[in-house]
Amino acid sequence: MTHVRPAFQPKEMRSPRPSPRRLALLGATGSIGRQVCDLVERHPDRFALHAVIAGTDASDAGRAARAIAEAVSDPDVDLVVVAAAGAAALAPTLSALDAGKDIALATKEVLVMAGELVRQRMRRHGSQIFPIDSEHSAIWQCLWGEKEAAVRRLILTGSGGPFLRRPLETLESVTIAEALAHPRWKMGPKITIDSATMMNKGLEVIEAHFLFDVPYSAIDVIVHPQSVVHSMVEFVDGSVKAQLGIPDMHLPIAIALGFPERLDGVTTAPDLAALGQLSFEALDAIRYPAVALAREAGERGGTAPAVLNAANEEAVALFLKGQRRFVEIVPSVRQAVESAAPDEELTLDTVIAADRWARAQVRTTSGGTSRVRSELPA
Ligand SMILES: NC(=O)c1ccc[n+]([C@@H]2O[C@H](COP(=O)([O-])OP(=O)(O)OC[C@H]3O[C@@H](n4cnc5c(N)ncnc54)[C@H](OP(=O)(O)O)[C@@H]3O)[C@@H](O)[C@H]2O)c1
Repeated sequence: MTHVRPAFQPKEMRSPRPSPRRLALLGATGSIGRQVCDLVERHPDRFALHAVIAGTDASDAGRAARAIAEAVSDPDVDLVVVAAAGAAALAPTLSALDAGKDIALATKEVLVMAGELVRQRMRRHGSQIFPIDSEHSAIWQCLWGEKEAAVRRLILTGSGGPFLRRPLETLESVTIAEALAHPRWKMGPKITIDSATMMNKGLEVIEAHFLFDVPYSAIDVIVHPQSVVHSMVEFVDGSVKAQLGIPDMHLPIAIALGFPERLDGVTTAPDLAALGQLSFEALDAIRYPAVALAREAGERGGTAPAVLNAANEEAVALFLKGQRRFVEIVPSVRQAVESAAPDEELTLDTVIAADRWARAQVRTTSGGTSRVRSELPA
């Protein structure tokens, strides 16, 4: 399992890292992709774009997908940046790993769907994954210089999204615009909706499990509305390390791209005196049932996380098209997870089959409002 876990200690690359580092960027037109391009522009001595890929064609089995596989495997590419939204990023990620490439990974869905497969490919080809997700970047940074045996638990922070204080009974009438209005982060639409349901945090629990090889029982979630503490690690002696920064994805992207070096002046540091207070509160499991649901799917293993992920992608897409209500998203996902066939062995074929089955399941069933009500307090 040593390959999938980002190195606790910054270590040398297999060969000296070339400068500028040549990147293949998947998802170039998205929120993360554009910030990667910013950093490349600001640091032409450090990074160069060798291949830039966008569009909605990575998931099909045709010529475009083959061209993408070729681009991420190109011998001239030093690092593949995976930032295409959702399940479409899986096949190109596996192609890049098969070519022995290191990956800067934004697309958490890849690890959620097929974490065990990703681990196997990494072990086989000796590649590494550097996390871009801000929470996982924070944990990674907290782990630098630490011994694995010294880690007691990982603590993921989440802002709670736009509905942290909204009366539960009014969630029935949430509009698309309200759900897209994240109070802290400016992100693509899918992850913004996931932040409002906090399915994003559930996916991140699974992501952390695979990335850091830590059992689910040792991964906790805490609500931190200011999004300044990006996550924490608790150690066996009772110490807790946290990583702080303003909510700006340029920073974790720069850390993943530049590793093991830090780039100069990526963002301004948070002004703690001006902020005055940072607050934390326990996760409300009634308001955010998605976190426990994701954890259950993760613990069940096999293809259950792939079902969770695909059902969620589909339910969010339907919500964004105005064909599902906000409160129907998580029940739709639960319905798919609970009616999925018993766990199967994880192979690329079973992942793809589970993904397709879950999408069809969500399209053909509503998820049920009765269940929504049962998740709201009386
Ligand atoms: N945004 C953030 O701050 C943030 C933070 C942490 C993690 N992440 C993760 O990073 C990933 C990207 O998020 P985002 O917010 O940048 O998404 P986004 O703004 O929606 O951008 C998505 C990108 O993926 C491309 N894409 C969509 N479907 C594709 C397909 N089938 N094949 C190939 N490319 C496809 C899009 O291309 P077109 O424009 O041509 O459709 C676009 O370049 C997500 O997994 C998200 O969870 C994002």
